[in-house]
Amino acid sequence: MTAERALEEITPENVDEALAIEVRADQRHAVSPVAKSLAEAYAFDQRAWPRLIRHQGQAVGFVMAFFDFDFNYNKIGAEPDLRSGLWRLNIAAAHQGRGHGRFAVAAVAAELRRRGTTRLTTTWHVGDGSPESFYLGLGFRPTGEMSDDERVGELRL
Ligand SMILES: CC(C)(COP(=O)(O)OP(=O)(O)OC[C@H]1O[C@@H](n2cnc3c(N)ncnc32)[C@H](O)[C@@H]1OP(=O)(O)O)[C@@H](O)C(=O)NCCC(=O)NCCS
Repeated sequence: MTAERALEEITPENVDEALAIEVRADQRHAVSPVAKSLAEAYAFDQRAWPRLIRHQGQAVGFVMAFFDFDFNYNKIGAEPDLRSGLWRLNIAAAHQGRGHGRFAVAAVAAELRRRGTTRLTTTWHVGDGSPESFYLGLGFRPTGEMSDDERVGELRL
């Protein structure tokens, strides 16, 4: 039986399905395309966790977690500030509003808990097309920081 929803590792068999995931045209400024995320996943290796979201056999989205990134990497002389969390979340335009985003965040939270992490950090675009209400609805709270032009938020696990 096909699982209702599942996350799949990216493989030679499903990579084209992952690359074909596209958000709505008016949301493209809010998230990088999957191709960029997969290039970063290659470069960051074990610190990136890219997954295809499948629902009833269909590829419906892409999610990528990050582990142990130093949020102070560009602050000269600062102590390392290692965090883990959600790096990218792209739900295909035709499949939004059906709980896939919520599922992906819960799956990343479960993976972080499994690794002993107690908070899930993410950043989101503010302004037009912002997913802020989505994250606040899931229990994320702004930390008061900005990362470039994105708001930093976290979910206590
Ligand atoms: C934001 C996004 C990930 C949400 O995914 P989704 O699968 O459509 O969301 P879900 O169906 O899981 O929604 C979960 C809840 O959030 C709410 N929600 C979803 N998108 C929302 C939005 N943009 N604003 C407010 N609430 C939103 C839903 O109504 C639902 O609430 P409910 O359970 O009370 O009904 C998706 O719209 C997307 O890929 N957007 C473009 C890219 C983007 O902004 N990604 C985030 C990068 S930081």
